Amino acid sequence: MSAATPAGVSVSPAPTPAAVGGDPSACTDRPTGTLPGALRLRDVVINPPLLNASGAFDLLATDPDWRADPAAAAPLGAYVTKTVTAEARSGNPRPWVELLAPETLVNSVGLANPGFAEVGEQWRELPDTLGGIPVILSLGGCPEELAAMAGEVSAHVGWVAGLELNLSCPNVHGGNVLAAADPARAAASVAAVRAVTDLPMLVKLTAACGDIGAVATAAESAGADGLVAVNTMPVRALDDDGWPVLGSPDGGMSGAMLHPIALRAVAACVAAVAIPVIGVGGVSSSASARRMFATGARAIGVGTAAALAPSTLRDLAHIWDSP
Ligand SMILES: Cc1cc2nc3c(=O)[nH]c(=O)nc-3n(C[C@H](O)[C@H](O)[C@H](O)COP(=O)(O)O)c2cc1C
Repeated sequence: MSAATPAGVSVSPAPTPAAVGGDPSACTDRPTGTLPGALRLRDVVINPPLLNASGAFDLLATDPDWRADPAAAAPLGAYVTKTVTAEARSGNPRPWVELLAPETLVNSVGLANPGFAEVGEQWRELPDTLGGIPVILSLGGCPEELAAMAGEVSAHVGWVAGLELNLSCPNVHGGNVLAAADPARAAASVAAVRAVTDLPMLVKLTAACGDIGAVATAAESAGADGLVAVNTMPVRALDDDGWPVLGSPDGGMSGAMLHPIALRAVAACVAAVAIPVIGVGGVSSSASARRMFATGARAIGVGTAAALAPSTLRDLAHIWDSP
C-alpha cells in the first residue's frame, strides 16, 4: 500500500477485526481454518467441493490438458454447463467479453446457446469426456420453460446429475432473467422445477438485489438443494471516449472486483439458510478460496480466473492437499 500511496494521502494502520464494522465473530472460521470436504446434494457427491462457474469459459477448448486427462489436469468435483434456454439464442452483439480492470472481466454474451433440444444429444458424452464427474446442467427461462426442460431431463436425459437454475443473468432482457432479484419470482421458478424433478437443484443468485438473504430463504423454502452466489454484477462499461467497450453498453462484471461483493452475498445467504451455498465470484487463489470458505461457503466455483489462466483450477485443487 505505502509504495502506491499518492503524496499527501495518509494511510491508517490496518484495523483490527473488532474495529471493522459488523461482528467479526460472524465469520465462521479464519481464512486458515480447515477446508470443507465433499459436498453432497441429494445423491450426488461433489468431491472436492470445487466447480467451474457456468459459462465463463469452455474448459475443453481453453485447456488442452483437460482433453487429455481431465482428472489429472484439474480435479473438479463437478462440472457446470453454460446456461441452456428452451430455444437457441445467438446472443448479444459482439464483442462479448473484455478486460475491465486487472483480473476483472465484463461480458455481455447474452446466454448464447444451441437450445435445449440440441444439447441433449450434443453434450451426451460430457460425463465420459470429463472423467466421470457429475455434470450439472444450467437452465434459464421463465418458470414454465424451466419446468418443461427439467421434466424432460428427469425423464429422458441420463447424463445430467443435477440442475442449476440461472435466475440471475444480467445480460438478457425480458423473460425471467433477473428472477433472483425478487423472492416471490425466485420461489415461483424453484417450485415449478421442484414439482417435476427429484434431481439435485442449485439456484444461482445475484448480488444485484435488495435483500439476497430473502431471496435465498424463498429459494430454500421452494425446494432448492443449494444456492450459488453469485452471478456477474450488472455494470456499464465505457471507454475513455464514452463508447461501449462491448457490443452492448451494459454487461456483467466478474473476477477480482466482484470478489468482495460475492463474499458479502455469500455471508448473507449463509446467515439466512441451512442448505449449502457455493461461493462464486473472484476466486482465483488459495487466499480467495479460503476467504470464501471462511465466509461459510461449502464449495467454490471459479470462472474468470480460470478463463484468464486455465492452470488456476489445478492449482486450487491442491489446497485440499495441505492442512
Ligand atoms: C463470459 C462469461 C459467460 C458467463 N455465462 C454464464 C452463463 O451462461 N450462466 C451463468 O449462470 N453464469 C454465467 N457467467 C457467470 C459466471 O458463472 C460467474 O457467476 C461469474 O463470472 C462470477 O464468477 P468469477 O468471478 O469467478 O468469474 C458467465 C461469466 C462470464 C465471464
